[in-house]
Amino acid sequence: MDCVILTDRGKLILNRMSERKGIILGIESSCDDTSAAIIKDGRILSNLIARQPIHEQYGGVVPELASRAHQQNIIPVVEAALKEAGVTKEELTGIAFTAGPGLMGALLVGVSFAKSLALSLGIPLIQVNHMQGHILAHFIQKPGEDKPMPQFPFICLTVSGGHTQLVKVTDYFQMEVLGETLDDAAGEAFDKIAKVLHFPYPGGPLIDKYAKEGDATRFHFTHPRTTKYNYSFSGLKTQFLHFIRNCERDDSDFVEKNKADICASIQDTIIKTLFSKLKKLAEDEGINQIAIAGGVSANSHLRSELQKLGKKKKWETFVPEFQYCTDNAGMIAIAGYYHFLNKDFVGQEVKANPRMKI
Ligand code: KG4
Ligand code: ZN
Repeated sequence: MDCVILTDRGKLILNRMSERKGIILGIESSCDDTSAAIIKDGRILSNLIARQPIHEQYGGVVPELASRAHQQNIIPVVEAALKEAGVTKEELTGIAFTAGPGLMGALLVGVSFAKSLALSLGIPLIQVNHMQGHILAHFIQKPGEDKPMPQFPFICLTVSGGHTQLVKVTDYFQMEVLGETLDDAAGEAFDKIAKVLHFPYPGGPLIDKYAKEGDATRFHFTHPRTTKYNYSFSGLKTQFLHFIRNCERDDSDFVEKNKADICASIQDTIIKTLFSKLKKLAEDEGINQIAIAGGVSANSHLRSELQKLGKKKKWETFVPEFQYCTDNAGMIAIAGYYHFLNKDFVGQEVKANPRMKI
């Protein structure tokens, strides 16, 4: 819904919008990272993240603890992002926040903060879909940078802790989910497998680290089979659990002795599974612009294999910078900037939507 801007400041913002000028504060609080970022005229000036190590001891994100930590972190993180960008809050022309999907209590902190700040400054409020944010992270540029960006239409494989999606992107906000996981997300599979190996949460980055020294052909796992462009990872997780239990029955030190090969083998299985559907979709749609996004796109094997596959298939591939793979407010601020250019604002009645769809 368009909000009504009556103040002089509002009129000034409208004028600047037509020149594609605007300073957007992005706020991300959908899971366990509290983040704030500033985008000025489409260029990123700061992107700060307050992590929440408290969840490590519980082996996963505890929603109630995440909300409390967001409450503590949000003001200092926003202040630090403004300071690093050299921007005052009075100079902001819009506030973008993650409306969903995510944990209700965590989202509420960001939504309430964004609403209050936008109201007190008299500037537009912009809601952002977190999954669209992950994809639009490909359009983040530093001042003066001129990096290659995906051309529309492109396909994005979005792989995070909560989602695994194959998305056809025809414009900034014209996105269609053509395939997705029917059960666990790829990041969830990494984390659950890591838990079986007794790694702390989140285990995905540790599997990546140990796999670097390992032989991916040493252990064999069945590739999950699913219809069309969909995925399924829950069977693979169960297969892995039984495999480890059986091996540990014969040798209690099995994991410790074979850690690198186990990690490399299971990681390779997950990545080959992800690519099998990506290849099929790209072929069926006749699209050669291929991007990856989300926390799992930080995985070094996924990144290098995508580049190899891209060369073979003559795709142009796009891999996000590390800091824009996992949850961050830079991606919310850039999505907010494009909404801002479209004058796509929301009113104070906006609500967090934990199950928001693309
Ligand atoms: O996008 P994200 O930060 O949060 C969600 O929106 O879910 O993704 C977090 C997920 C976690 O499951 C984490 O284990 C996984 O991304 N992840 C990785 C790597 N870095 C983060 N998985 C595999 N290899 C990595 N290097
Ligand atoms: Zn995410």
